[in-house]
Amino acid sequence: MDRMERRKFLWGSLIGSGALLANSLVNQGWAQSARKKKLPPFLTGLVISTWNAGLTANEHAWKSLLEGGKALDMVEKGVNAIEADFTNRYVGLGGLPDREGHTTLDACIMDSNGMAGSVMCVEQVKYPSSLARLVMEKTPHVQLVGEGAQQFAVEQGIQLDNYVSDEAQKMYEEWLQKSEYKPIINAENHDTIGLLAIDRQGDLAGVCTTSGMAYKMRGRVGDSPIIGAGLYVDNEIGAATATGLGEAVVRTCGSFLVVELMRQGMDPQRACESAVERIRSKHTNVKDFQVGFLAVNKAGEIGAFSVQPGFTYALHKNGINQIFNAPSMFK
Ligand code: GLY
Repeated sequence: MDRMERRKFLWGSLIGSGALLANSLVNQGWAQSARKKKLPPFLTGLVISTWNAGLTANEHAWKSLLEGGKALDMVEKGVNAIEADFTNRYVGLGGLPDREGHTTLDACIMDSNGMAGSVMCVEQVKYPSSLARLVMEKTPHVQLVGEGAQQFAVEQGIQLDNYVSDEAQKMYEEWLQKSEYKPIINAENHDTIGLLAIDRQGDLAGVCTTSGMAYKMRGRVGDSPIIGAGLYVDNEIGAATATGLGEAVVRTCGSFLVVELMRQGMDPQRACESAVERIRSKHTNVKDFQVGFLAVNKAGEIGAFSVQPGFTYALHKNGINQIFNAPSMFK
């Protein structure tokens, strides 16, 4: 951990302890009301998300839970914090552009009723995950793409934001010198945030949001906004999300696969490992790319596994928010 991360971690732990106290007070009240209404036993809630930025996202998701938010609110609020962080080069409008210099965003969201919304290749929208939620809630569709997604955003009263990151622009201009396009294994290539949550009712939701592969072809869409690839939620079984080379995840329906393996009886860890094994078996170039999966089942057990070492995730459980290193296929 570097100094910044240590500070974030300590701060996270402090907030975690405060949250623990608040949590137990809220729980006491909730338990009384649950007993009165004869509700089923509740969980205390759980949030899990990809990469180190997940620590901040989890805090925001947890705040939403403490304010009475349901799983869907938790996941949206969680990743909104990262989408609004314009220093992040892989999520939101601060993300690296495509090879023609356009920053295009992808996101999808799924709730505990099996409903889903997605936007792909949308520009100038600060919160693509919230737009995906609007697609889910306000249209009869699941996916909106490009200009149509942007038009829908405007119709919903969202003000377009033409923010361009100077640093991202500089990195793009440097890239243009050689215009080499190859997915990089680099563990620092935090390309996505996927976040899964369980609320106090024990219901699940998930979200996945990204600016996609840096310097991608114009119009390229990866796994992140594809229901079943970057994200899948089945409230009876569990939820999964993916990060890394989207093409490999799409080819194997990665997140759907993880949830289906859990349905067949695997625990979340084994399910993530099997999904990585499936990717290995279908790709001769698996040494050259990274994919990571996170999963949680209905009982709140979690799983995390990646192709390459370096995949980190943040887990907010029992009032403590912490970063972990996921185990990986290559060591
Ligand atoms: N996983 C993000 C992407 O491939 O776009």
